[in-house]
Amino acid sequence: MIDLRSDTVTRPTAGMRRAMAEAEVGDDVLGDDPTVNRLQETVAAMLGKEAGLFVPSGTMANQIAVKTHTRPGDEVICEAGAHVYVYEAGAPAFLSGVQMRPIAGKHGVMDVADVEAAIRPQNVHHPVSRLICLENTHNRAGGTVCPIENIREIRALADRTGLRMHLDGARLWNAHVATGIPLAEYAGYFDSVSVCFSKGLGAPVGSLIAGDGAFIRDARRFRKIFGGGMRQAGILAAAALYAVEHHLRRLGEDHARAGRLAGALSAFDGVDVDLESVQTNILFFSVASGIGSAERIVERLREQGILVLALPPRGIRAVTHLDVEERDIETVIAALPRIFSA
Ligand SMILES: Cc1ncc(COP(=O)(O)O)c(C=O)c1O
Repeated sequence: MIDLRSDTVTRPTAGMRRAMAEAEVGDDVLGDDPTVNRLQETVAAMLGKEAGLFVPSGTMANQIAVKTHTRPGDEVICEAGAHVYVYEAGAPAFLSGVQMRPIAGKHGVMDVADVEAAIRPQNVHHPVSRLICLENTHNRAGGTVCPIENIREIRALADRTGLRMHLDGARLWNAHVATGIPLAEYAGYFDSVSVCFSKGLGAPVGSLIAGDGAFIRDARRFRKIFGGGMRQAGILAAAALYAVEHHLRRLGEDHARAGRLAGALSAFDGVDVDLESVQTNILFFSVASGIGSAERIVERLREQGILVLALPPRGIRAVTHLDVEERDIETVIAALPRIFSA
């Protein structure tokens, strides 16, 4: 099977498994795991931040950040399709007692004027606008990159109004490789950043939150409260370190393959690909009703040995990653006429 459902489906490579097997470990809840410590220092430095904290998932990373920045009754501004708002099971309300203020963006990018309009005046009747969350790249918008000028404008607004900023950088690696903008330059506009090792980078587990020392001290306590304190987690941190060292540069290959697939799909009548939104490794397309439902197309692709994700009624998502090679893309492109031609 060629699995294009998500970049989370990758399996550890032989080299990564060796690194895991050989990892030095200790009890990380006691701060004793040398490999976790090395990962935290390495990635915090890459992001230009004082400190880092290894956590089990991207969801936990975002939720610890929300918890650390806010108090119950606060409001968090984010884009309407943001993972932290749509795909984290209502966790900001559940875990932090905050309310979300979603703003519709274009390709996942919020206009600074809309963000400004969403900031509440200080008044006893209102929640306190506390935090702005951005997502880069933006998953639900199709792996789109948030322009650095937009980030800069929103940071200036946050500084003027006293709000804090968190970046859901689950795929910041992809934005960095797509634009050439240094990770630390992106991260420099945010009070906290989360990054994932288990997406395009191909590690089996793990994310990291980066911020200043005081923020990470508080975040460490919330990680314990949320049940994310792990013991000999060095075997996982070793996979993450291996992923950062060996799989970061190659993300450009995933982007090129997603672009080629998007181009091939767009040649068929009744298949609509927003080529402008195909900027990294995620590609959304929709199928006209004459061709069949998204579920039906997904089924037909499965019969050809190709897995993609249905977003009913008409949408389909395909994602390129470490376990999808050039010849797999050739195979997928060769199968398309069997699915889409009359
Ligand atoms: C943008 C973004 N943030 C956060 C997450 C959550 O990561 P996890 O599945 O590790 O909880 C995802 C997962 O796909 C994501 O796409």
